[in-house]
Amino acid sequence: MSKPRVLITRRIPDSGIRLLKIKCEVEVNPQDRPLTREELLLGVHDRDGVLCMLTDKIDAEVLDAAGPRAKIFANYAVGFDNLDIAAATQRGVLLSNTPDVLTDATADMAWSLLCAVARRVLEGDRYTRAGKFTGWKPLELLGLEITGKTIGIIGAGRIGQAFGQRACGFKPRLLYTANRPKPDFEAQTGASFADRETLLREADFVSLHLPLTPETRHYIGARELNLMKETAILINTSRGPVVDEKALVKALREKRIWGAGLDVYEQEPELEPGLSALENVVITPHLGSATIETRDNMGIVAADNILAALAGEMPPNCLNPEAAKAKN
Ligand code: DGY
Repeated sequence: MSKPRVLITRRIPDSGIRLLKIKCEVEVNPQDRPLTREELLLGVHDRDGVLCMLTDKIDAEVLDAAGPRAKIFANYAVGFDNLDIAAATQRGVLLSNTPDVLTDATADMAWSLLCAVARRVLEGDRYTRAGKFTGWKPLELLGLEITGKTIGIIGAGRIGQAFGQRACGFKPRLLYTANRPKPDFEAQTGASFADRETLLREADFVSLHLPLTPETRHYIGARELNLMKETAILINTSRGPVVDEKALVKALREKRIWGAGLDVYEQEPELEPGLSALENVVITPHLGSATIETRDNMGIVAADNILAALAGEMPPNCLNPEAAKAKN
């Protein structure tokens, strides 16, 4: 019997590929770039499974191009705003993501950005490299104290809560928003449930941990930025469109807020004009899950999801279990 056919739309660490190769005929995009739309439509054709990236838009057209053999599209990401769940479910195609394994790495990244902005780490690096460091000065590159401040977590899911747990060492007042109160998280960290407006008005540092949905698009816009303190810092490691980037650039330029740390952008990989010229922002290229260990684990989790679906089982991280019924 021939092996199931799997496409991996972009090179990932070897462990996930090796796992799939035990049972499947695997093709990996050989180029270190996302497949073009045309290549994706051609590449998915007649595959049993596809391991796709957050940069691949998996919609009805792609699912139709895959054809009736397709059983699963496994996203190599926890976020899945690139997947059309309704279209896949209707066609009986399972979808999955890679939760849990990237929680710590992403929470660490949010903290890296917060510390970098508050303590002006990159400005200091540029300054030192430029030969401007001529000796210790009492008033040079002063930043903001982190300890004892009010920290606001918008979206206390897995990553938001991990961010909150890391905050405890800084003896903060912790505020969070979520769909509903999280008593275990509150007991663990002393965090208090707040509405968005209160959190934005009172927090010194605001970290975003929301999935991108129609409801969360531009969740932080001009109005919300205006609610924030002039000394506040905004951190975004979730999805770019959660923040109105134009409004953010304006707020940063006018020093309406103190600074921002961004790992994600509205039109990745494009940046809003003016953003990279600002000193009070630290920008990184979507590195939330980018550790050797985490990217390895994401590949293994995505491969496990594919292997389960191909064996006729429910993938451990299935996003649309109803799809199994549609196929039968
Ligand atoms: C995700 O998983 O959604 C991150 O944005 C990339 O790893």
